[in-house]
Amino acid sequence: MGWLSFSIGLVSLCSMVFTVSGIGANWGTQCSHPLPPDTVVRLLRDNGFQRIKLFDADYDALRALGKSGIEVMVGIPNDMLLTMASSVKAAEKWVAKNVSTHLTTNNVNIKYVAVGNEPFLETYNGSFLKTTFPALQNVQSALIKAGLGTTVKVTVPLNADVYASSTDYPSGGDFRADIHDLMLAIVKFLSDNGAPFTVNIYPFISLYTDENFPVEYAFFDEKATPVTDGGTTYYNMFDANYDTLVWALQKNGFGNLPIIVGEIGWPTDGDRNANIQYAQRFNQGFMTHILGGKGTPMRPGAVDVYLFSLIDEDAKSVQPGNFERHWGIFNYDGSAKYQLNLGATNSGALAAARGVKYLDQKWCVMKPSAKLDDPQVSLSVSYACGLADCTTLGYGTSCGNLDARGNVSYAFNSYYQRNNQLDQACKFPNVSMITKTDPSVGSCKFPVMIEPYYGGTERTVGSLQKPVILASGLILFLLRIL
Ligand SMILES: *[C@@H]1O[C@H](CO)[C@@H](O)[C@H](O)[C@H]1NC(C)=O
Ligand SMILES: *[C@@H]1O[C@H](CO)[C@@H](O)[C@H](O)[C@H]1NC(C)=O
Ligand SMILES: *[C@@H]1O[C@H](CO)[C@@H](O)[C@H](O)[C@H]1NC(C)=O
Ligand SMILES: *[C@@H]1O[C@H](CO)[C@@H](O)[C@H](O)[C@H]1NC(C)=O
Repeated sequence: MGWLSFSIGLVSLCSMVFTVSGIGANWGTQCSHPLPPDTVVRLLRDNGFQRIKLFDADYDALRALGKSGIEVMVGIPNDMLLTMASSVKAAEKWVAKNVSTHLTTNNVNIKYVAVGNEPFLETYNGSFLKTTFPALQNVQSALIKAGLGTTVKVTVPLNADVYASSTDYPSGGDFRADIHDLMLAIVKFLSDNGAPFTVNIYPFISLYTDENFPVEYAFFDEKATPVTDGGTTYYNMFDANYDTLVWALQKNGFGNLPIIVGEIGWPTDGDRNANIQYAQRFNQGFMTHILGGKGTPMRPGAVDVYLFSLIDEDAKSVQPGNFERHWGIFNYDGSAKYQLNLGATNSGALAAARGVKYLDQKWCVMKPSAKLDDPQVSLSVSYACGLADCTTLGYGTSCGNLDARGNVSYAFNSYYQRNNQLDQACKFPNVSMITKTDPSVGSCKFPVMIEPYYGGTERTVGSLQKPVILASGLILFLLRIL
């Protein structure tokens, strides 16, 4: 088959070009307008990604990854942990449907199953403490039963808050006291099964949550006051955090357990510290740091990494903060946000997604004749922001400098685009109108949406979204806008 040999040829060509152990990315799909999976897989290949991490077993994504050679970590969402924990049969069904089938009929290169996603996060109040480990055991049994025990490994992506240091230095690292025994049981199980520990590390969140966090320590330019731990000097938070884990593992007798960095990255909008400059500086600094292959002081050598994230997800919950929808190194349409040398291509520039289809060049804006104090205006903005995306409005964000009318227009347009430019979606009573003049100003882009993708999954497009109850935080946020 010509196509097959072409794709094999391409894969081997790629492995000759790459000199790195393989850079990975997280592919989340909480988007109002996801790119077609085939477009995303081509984007991955064009940019030399060799690994991808999925948060569930999205059928279309897995199908598109078939025969690409790209290594896949497929996830089991937290809300399935109880089922997986209570029934070996359910775990076997999950493995049969979401792993075995894709391996055999689709040639998907599945290497890992991620059981849960940061299940021990303190904000979950212990909801998944009882189910994660049994689910992990059942999935492992199911993999063995399916004959995949040696080729597909289990892991649990954990937030770095599962460990801490009693001394503020990496050498004081140990697992969190309230889950210490559970962590040891999981770590032993991973070790017994030749499986890796997966950790998500976020210097951005440290900066976001702690006003006194030394900004430079988040980056890799060695401009921060270094931290000296015994004979070891730490110049950045990543190394120190990663080595705190290494110490925690070593202290408990698992010093050789492989570690995967499941998520690392920097958002570009929605907060004063979330911008293109910082994101590029962090991600490029990090890539250069690990491409050198020197690892961290405690773990010299290659670091296995999945960047967070590949593409922006405009339908994610903003509960963690408005930055949550802006983690992508690519925009919603697969265009690159900034230059980033991943070490896999010669140019150092990111290649944009190819063949993306946009809706018409038109926008919904506030009517010039409408008055800001018209009560319809504030009602309409609340409605639009509640259903679309206003996370780029706010102090220090890309559209933070808009005037009051600009704010209103931004909200209207976001709603209009999300509803595929349906005429009905720009009929805020007497206060909105459609324009063919791009209202973007400076860093503030008024997006034109991409064509909706009608692939395998069902979604309602072409009809207006039903109102949802606004989160109280969002209402407060909106009150500040107007
Ligand atoms: C396979 O994964 C999908 C997506 O996560 C999930 O909805 C489905 O229930 C899984 N299938 C089985 C048999 O567990
Ligand atoms: C966790 O507990 C806090 C305080 O009791 C509560 O506000 C929050 O909604 C809970 N979160 C979850 C995910 O249950
Ligand atoms: C526009 O909205 C932003 C975000 O809430 C706010 O900071 C800004 O003050 C608003 N501008 C005007 C002129 O109302
Ligand atoms: C829109 O404007 C027209 C004319 O000014 C007015 O008669 C009508 O009541 C307005 N409609 C609404 C919903 O405000």
